[in-house]
Amino acid sequence: NVINGKSIARAIRAGIANEICRMKETIVKSPGLAIVLVGGRRNSRTFIHVKLKACEEVGITTHVEELPEECTEDEVLRVVSGLNNNPSVNGIIVQLPLPQLVDEERIINFVSPEKDVDGFHPLNMGNLAMKGREPLFIPCAPKSCIELLLRSGVEIMGKRAVVVGRSKIVGLPTSLLLHHHATVSTVHSFTKNPEQITREADIVIADVGIPNLIRGSWLKPGAVVVDMGTNQVQDPGIDQGSRIIGDVCYEEAIKVVSAITPVPGGVGPVTIAMLLSNTLDSAKRAFP
Ligand code: GUN
Repeated sequence: NVINGKSIARAIRAGIANEICRMKETIVKSPGLAIVLVGGRRNSRTFIHVKLKACEEVGITTHVEELPEECTEDEVLRVVSGLNNNPSVNGIIVQLPLPQLVDEERIINFVSPEKDVDGFHPLNMGNLAMKGREPLFIPCAPKSCIELLLRSGVEIMGKRAVVVGRSKIVGLPTSLLLHHHATVSTVHSFTKNPEQITREADIVIADVGIPNLIRGSWLKPGAVVVDMGTNQVQDPGIDQGSRIIGDVCYEEAIKVVSAITPVPGGVGPVTIAMLLSNTLDSAKRAFP
């Protein structure tokens, strides 16, 4: 049972495009997303290209601010400040990672929480962690994980979920989000016998960045797996010379689980759709 992220994302994008179409007819405005890119990392450029194309398809206006690798922290803050104060910008993404000399925390803290479509600002992350509080934005990859589960008819309430990994932008917020309804354990590099813990889980979420770490034997028969890993591995057998694989050994897992997201074509497209959704939500709040 393969969870088709591409078709789920297509359905979400169609709904968003419809709403934006109506918004343009009634208030003659479209949502705006700004992306700040510091330095020219190839991966970052690829990610940004995908985000821009998705925005264009649903009618979100985009704006890219490029700064050189060697720019100062103050220059980045100045750019973010301009976007914070620009009423036609509803969402701001500062593409990570930033160059070493720029303090990532300081920049993330400076993005207006009301335009923080990545959901990385401490106010949004803090509200996500606290019961009864609503963050303005939920980070896109964790939100996509929940969306994939719900749209595939997977019950989360009362289930045992294990998140493998605790990265600031994926693993940790995914644990916080699941925590509202499931019993959540986190497995990380200091965990002893991680496979014993994953084997008890009804839902396994992987975000470690180690290709094929999670083997079929780590999984309980009938479990549901969301693979958030995106690892580039060399493959001389194909034209591009490399391909993307997940953190879960797909060929083994598919024989054990009841459902699994493939890589690519699982979490990735839905994560982009969640960015569009966060940007639309922000515009709806900003445009009276
Ligand atoms: N770098 C890798 N993933 C992301 C993301 O979701 N948001 C930002 N801002 N940078 C990233």
